[in-house]
Amino acid sequence: MEALQHSFSPPAGSVLWRRQFLVGVATAAYQVEGAVSADGRLPSIWDTFSATPGKVLHGDTGAQACDHYHRWAEDVDLLAALNVDAYRLSIAWPRVMDAAGRPNAAGIAFYRKLLQRLKDKGVRTSVTLYHWDLPQHLEDTGGWLNRDTIYHFADYADLMSRELAGLVDFWSTLNEPWCSAMLGYGTGHHAPGHADLGAANQAMHHLLLAHGLAIPILRRNDPASAKGIVINVGRGTTDGATPADQHAAELFELQHNDWVLDPLLRGRYPARLHTELWPQAAPNVRDGDMAIIAAPLDFIGINYYFRTNVRDDGEGGYVELPLAGVERTQMGWEVHPDGLCDLLVGFHRRYENLPPLYITENGMASDDKVVDGAVIDGQRIAFLNRHLAAVDEAVRLGVDVRGYYIWSLLDNFEWAFGYERRFGIVHVDYATQRRTLKRSAELVRDFLAKRRSMA
Ligand code: NOJ
Repeated sequence: MEALQHSFSPPAGSVLWRRQFLVGVATAAYQVEGAVSADGRLPSIWDTFSATPGKVLHGDTGAQACDHYHRWAEDVDLLAALNVDAYRLSIAWPRVMDAAGRPNAAGIAFYRKLLQRLKDKGVRTSVTLYHWDLPQHLEDTGGWLNRDTIYHFADYADLMSRELAGLVDFWSTLNEPWCSAMLGYGTGHHAPGHADLGAANQAMHHLLLAHGLAIPILRRNDPASAKGIVINVGRGTTDGATPADQHAAELFELQHNDWVLDPLLRGRYPARLHTELWPQAAPNVRDGDMAIIAAPLDFIGINYYFRTNVRDDGEGGYVELPLAGVERTQMGWEVHPDGLCDLLVGFHRRYENLPPLYITENGMASDDKVVDGAVIDGQRIAFLNRHLAAVDEAVRLGVDVRGYYIWSLLDNFEWAFGYERRFGIVHVDYATQRRTLKRSAELVRDFLAKRRSMA
């Protein structure tokens, strides 16, 4: 472990040495941009939610964040200097359309110049249309519970792919629909803050429909780019000894992974989901919906962070039971690289039509501090090394993984946890907006420079 904290040098033969394996960094609009009222941007559900007392740690909001909306050019230069192949970002829907659905030229111009500069620097672009910042006016008419929202999303996808065609290498429709549906509508931990399981299921159905409607639109408007979706995946295992505990772990993964992947790849919800796990919460599905959702994809983005230990809850479900004595991050999440490999191999075996995969997010939060001008983030360096080794192992076992993005380029607004949790490989001093490369960023930069020189 010691060595892993001070170096970043994948073993010879690792997929990471292949020049065509994309290594990138990721951010999302609301988490970094700030400037929430600039140039006609409308409020989003996260502006409303974070302004509501008690919803976000320390009352933090995305109003300033990393001020990336003004510092975008320096930030692009900074990431290009890390020698990364690709940058994953998201578009803020409320910046680019007004409440009547008309284009907002100033907002669109921001993304055009950002993407153009990335292109000029030779950095590939991976753009997510929806990373959780729904325009508030759409929430006011029901948000993702209102079927009309899917048609608004299709219009938004149409506009952006016409405006930005040629500047985007990878389009993703949604980021982590599970989080939008479950945390936004099921538990209320995220915007818009509803807490109802039936609502979570209906929101999920509409999110997936919005995705499925958008895919052919993106294909039509920007044929040369790759189109996909980004999902979060959950590894669930049990330390319990009984078959019921084993069953509980299966239900955990069913609820996290199959709930999203089955509709996307098989055109149906997993049967057990609405019979066994949530009999009262089935969504309203219309004829033809599932075929729309199962639109063919060029890739799936996988976001992986941790493993969850579960046990049987005695009522046919599962209960989470944190393991003692395991390594954890600032989020309290268990560090478990094998979980990533296990999931990737599992998906590869389960879905015969699985498209190529990209790890679109992986990383960790730590309480990083600048000391004498440096940030020594040893736990993160070991974390990245070990997770990349897990990806390597999955590729060795036959999974088609084509790239890996570190979450995140910058420390940023970590949703309900505000600014306290630092995921960046670049430290941000929020008082001065000064960026300082952490040791992890320097090591990634040096490795990628070496890889380039060997090509
Ligand atoms: C997933 C989300 O896509 C991203 O926005 C978030 O910051 C990271 N996970 C870390 O929680």
